[in-house]
Amino acid sequence: MRAIEITAPGGPEVLEWHEVPDPSVGPGDVLIDVAASAVNRADVHQRRGFYDPPPGAPLYPGLEVSGVVAAVGADVEQFKAGDEVCALLAGGGYAERVAVPWQQVMPVPEGLPLAEAAALPEVACTVWSNVFMIGRLRRGETLLVHGGASGIGTFAVQLAKALGSRVAATVGSEAKAEQVRKLGADEVVNYREEDFADRVEADVILDIMGAKYLAGNVRALRTGGRLVIIGLQGGGKAELDLGALLTKRATVHGTTLRSRPVDEKGVIVRSVVDNVWPLVEAGAVRPVVYAKVPMSQAADAHRMLDSGEHVGKILLVR
Ligand SMILES: NC(=O)c1ccc[n+]([C@@H]2O[C@H](COP(=O)([O-])OP(=O)(O)OC[C@H]3O[C@@H](n4cnc5c(N)ncnc54)[C@H](OP(=O)(O)O)[C@@H]3O)[C@@H](O)[C@H]2O)c1
Repeated sequence: MRAIEITAPGGPEVLEWHEVPDPSVGPGDVLIDVAASAVNRADVHQRRGFYDPPPGAPLYPGLEVSGVVAAVGADVEQFKAGDEVCALLAGGGYAERVAVPWQQVMPVPEGLPLAEAAALPEVACTVWSNVFMIGRLRRGETLLVHGGASGIGTFAVQLAKALGSRVAATVGSEAKAEQVRKLGADEVVNYREEDFADRVEADVILDIMGAKYLAGNVRALRTGGRLVIIGLQGGGKAELDLGALLTKRATVHGTTLRSRPVDEKGVIVRSVVDNVWPLVEAGAVRPVVYAKVPMSQAADAHRMLDSGEHVGKILLVR
């Protein structure tokens, strides 16, 4: 098969489409003929040499795919050849084929084109597990989403609105603010012009900035608030005002999805299929696809992500 190899740590030009060995299929694996993958910020960190795949994961980038099941391992009863599926991966999505533990495989939501389903696994599992399973966001509460125009943000805004919450989001331009409002956000703050903590009070915050926003996030939390940190774009070390945390009876969580064991991912994946897929099928939540780029031209897709011009997801199609 062919896959995108990272030939050396560096810029988008290090991504090359090469002939590589086919994946081996373990007894609990599903082999997928890939229709599409999608670009995540983590792929850029991996390309630059800062985010190696966890042990045992394929070396090629790509945290999600959609496609058709080509074969299943001896122990797999849940899927069969010919099924249309999408999957959450620990790596290896930028390829013609990928083998993935069955626990991380999902049916394609009914009515969704196969390629577009590649835009969902990473954002759906990240947002559902962090905002709802860990953050326990409830109907009527307020969610603050940092980076509302990102792949993660566009999904979080829609899902929280669909489940009856008030949503505030931060973005870096007026044009992006407009698009995030169209996705349903009630309040949008341009982080280049205003301090979000002066304007927003939130019960749950989904944070991608880490150190840079820690003090502001604690300030913006309501009593009983939950701050869930999933990204460190603004650094990994900061001072935490424990007094404020105590007074507000607030909690701070941090998680990564990629390094979780297969069984934990399986619990999240099943919960997503049960709780999120019906909303996608009803049209209440949809993947926001900014561009479709041929997979062999993944370098162009990374240039697009690096430029920061995108809103939502960039797909890599076969
Ligand atoms: N822990 C996990 O399991 C997990 C899983 C998935 C993703 N993530 C993290 O989630 C983040 C989003 O991922 P993605 O793939 O959706 O990336 P993406 O589409 O490239 O989005 C990056 C976002 O960061 C925003 N941003 C940059 N500076 C900001 C600031 N000062 N304040 C607020 N927002 C700012 C950008 O907003 P503008 O474009 O509006 O400037 C952009 O929307 C990344 O940090 C990624 O590592 C974590």
